[in-house]
Amino acid sequence: MSQGLHASDKSNSKWLELQAQLARLPSRLPASAQSLAPQQIADQIRQLSNYYIHSPSAVSPWHEPWARHALFSYYHPLNLTRVWAAAERGRHLGFLNDLHHLYDLGSGSGAAAQALSLQQSWTSLELRDVSSAILEFALQVAELPSHTRHTTARLETRPQNLDDPRRSLAVLAHVLTENTEIPSWVFELEALMILEPSTRDDARRLQARRETLMAQGFHIWAPCPHAKPCPLLRDERDWCHDAIEYPAPPWWLDLEAHLPMKNQRLTFSYLLARKTPPPAPSSRPLLRVVGDVLAEKGKSRTLTCSDGDRAFLSWFPNRRQSPEPTCRRGDLLEWPSAPTNFEKRGQDERQEWRIGDADFPILSQLPDRNDSNR
Ligand SMILES: C[S@@+](CC[C@H](N)C(=O)[O-])C[C@H]1O[C@@H](n2cnc3c(N)ncnc32)[C@H](O)[C@@H]1O
Repeated sequence: MSQGLHASDKSNSKWLELQAQLARLPSRLPASAQSLAPQQIADQIRQLSNYYIHSPSAVSPWHEPWARHALFSYYHPLNLTRVWAAAERGRHLGFLNDLHHLYDLGSGSGAAAQALSLQQSWTSLELRDVSSAILEFALQVAELPSHTRHTTARLETRPQNLDDPRRSLAVLAHVLTENTEIPSWVFELEALMILEPSTRDDARRLQARRETLMAQGFHIWAPCPHAKPCPLLRDERDWCHDAIEYPAPPWWLDLEAHLPMKNQRLTFSYLLARKTPPPAPSSRPLLRVVGDVLAEKGKSRTLTCSDGDRAFLSWFPNRRQSPEPTCRRGDLLEWPSAPTNFEKRGQDERQEWRIGDADFPILSQLPDRNDSNR
């Protein structure tokens, strides 16, 4: 394993703690909201969803209790899980090491700060949002350390006294769709984490931000396993996103029964950047799995990104002597130490490595539902 990479720890206590916090969410709502039936909460969620559909660029209606309840009952657990997953990808690389101060910008109900507090303790945490109503609500309901402070301000406004910038992380979770520019003061910090929806447009816009960040002195730690131009930007049909199985608690399943949208698997696009370079890979190249594993006519294949190139890994399950590869979308792999009977086929967007019996060690894998009860 490359120096600095942490083993992927599937039965990790942080995964169990995420599930425990998801299970506790309804009990943290104000008493008036706790007495609502799942059907009534589902109606509030539909109302918020319709609000965004009809007024996509309007200010979020956080002064309305129904909107805050809908946010906390629906979007908060999903975004908490997504940010946790992106942070977990980072943790495998040592991304959070030596970071002590956290700014959650456009925090809403504080899902990102809660997820990052599950990963490690922070000396200081600031939630920042334009809405004081949502900040006060976040401090009541999100499970956050007692020293969390909040600032009602636009994220573009530089804090007067920055906590030690060389030990600070800013997280911008699901906020750049509303604000196209990354606030310039954030470039003074050591680390930056951005999450965006996994739609093609949002994800491609995020991939294009790599160049801006690199020009500001950042190194991209994840998902990219290289610093070359993004190969998935060449063809507009491609986009990069990751996924995690949602460990839905029982109360969620009762609620989801009243909703048209289902969330078994959560997808997200993300970038993790630091001024410090990422751990040097071993002599073997790293690959990021950027597609699902597709089984087609006796052959399986999945798209990977490596060293500025995209290529499929493909294998014939029936011809393999060794067990089938278990990699999934988003995993970080290492090129095998002893490649056997590899064959390079096709070129450009059809480029493919037939991997025969080779096994690509998985350096980062997110837990799934089967890991829940360990
Ligand atoms: C879609 S919510 C995301 C909330 C949270 N980060 C999450 O991932 O669940 C976006 C939040 O950003 C806030 N916001 C939008 N524009 C902002 C700005 N310019 N400055 C500060 N907050 C802003 C909104 O009030 C809203 O709470």
